[in-house]
Amino acid sequence: MYTPSSSRYAMMQYRRCGKSGLKLPAISLGLWHNFGGVDDYDQYREILHVAFDQGITHFDLANNYGPPPGSAEENFGKILASDFKAYRDELIISTKAGYTMWEGPYGDWGSRKYLISSLDQSLKRMGLDYVDVFYHHRPDPETPLEETMTALNHIVKQGKALYVGISNYDVPEAEKAIRMLKQMGTPCLIHQPRYSMFDRWVENGLLDLLAKQGVGCIPFSPLAQGLLTDKYLHGVPVGSRASKAHGFLRPSHITPQKLEQIEHLNQIAINRGQTLAQMALAWILKSPVITSVLIGASKAEQVTDAVHCLHNLYFSEDEIFTINTILAI
Ligand SMILES: NC(=O)c1ccc[n+]([C@@H]2O[C@H](COP(=O)([O-])OP(=O)(O)OC[C@H]3O[C@@H](n4cnc5c(N)ncnc54)[C@H](OP(=O)(O)O)[C@@H]3O)[C@@H](O)[C@H]2O)c1
Repeated sequence: MYTPSSSRYAMMQYRRCGKSGLKLPAISLGLWHNFGGVDDYDQYREILHVAFDQGITHFDLANNYGPPPGSAEENFGKILASDFKAYRDELIISTKAGYTMWEGPYGDWGSRKYLISSLDQSLKRMGLDYVDVFYHHRPDPETPLEETMTALNHIVKQGKALYVGISNYDVPEAEKAIRMLKQMGTPCLIHQPRYSMFDRWVENGLLDLLAKQGVGCIPFSPLAQGLLTDKYLHGVPVGSRASKAHGFLRPSHITPQKLEQIEHLNQIAINRGQTLAQMALAWILKSPVITSVLIGASKAEQVTDAVHCLHNLYFSEDEIFTINTILAI
């Protein structure tokens, strides 16, 4: 039996998502890793409890999260039914389609056939009537963008998603998609790009576009999958993402150059009275264009660590200069 903390809304900040009516928590939780069929039920159930107890109202999924694909939605659905049923209206649940999900020509990319069938499958796995946000997960170079955006519009009109978003779209693709959705009367709520201190491509036009168009932004992998923490400073710990065969972070990504940068960044974080993870999240949240940072967690303590970044989102000019210098190494 789970009873959420009565003080769950005391500390979290909620930020308006672009120019929409929806606010999201400054920290959101994604279920890409650690919630699949290979993971520990008690551990991921605790992560969800600790997150909601601290005001994290937004949980992000996709059809293919696991492994095996689909199992994160199934596991989340079980916990929703047992622990969160009474709190559905306090939650923002998102899912996506765009990567390979099932065999044959209809289980991948961006056709109307794939998006609509995939969302129906996701709703079934999670035991939901609707999701709050449905994303096209990645641009499809072959399907006409009109078809993909018309499918998103249809899904909202059907009531199977309240809002729609796009993910991994570059600036010209995002601009076209946002324009098309606006014309159909289903505004694009949000863009979900990869963004961290180690991957700053969104600063070359995407953030400006989203600000101008009033579209929210929820960066994924803000900790570069765990690199922007102190955990890899002394090798690859057992149980960490880089140590797992199915993890998307490989030990080869932890280069001597990255380690040198992490070492220096960690020192700045210590001087600020933060963990490196907290500083890396605060560094993204300092921009008003950012609605929320979308973290992952393998342990409940990591969620709590992230939430405490909200105590200090301020960076002095000196700190910004030093961080930029380190990131240019
Ligand atoms: N749209 C897309 O294409 C796309 C792609 C990727 C992700 N996403 C979304 O973004 C979410 C987050 O991605 P991500 O998991 O890569 O995010 P991340 O926050 O960059 O990395 C999370 C990992 O970092 C480690 N970590 C987190 N907090 C820590 C702390 N305080 N101290 C030490 N280590 C810590 C944990 O790894 P350990 O396992 O090593 O403990 C954790 O699983 C996903 O769940 C998904 O919802 C979307």
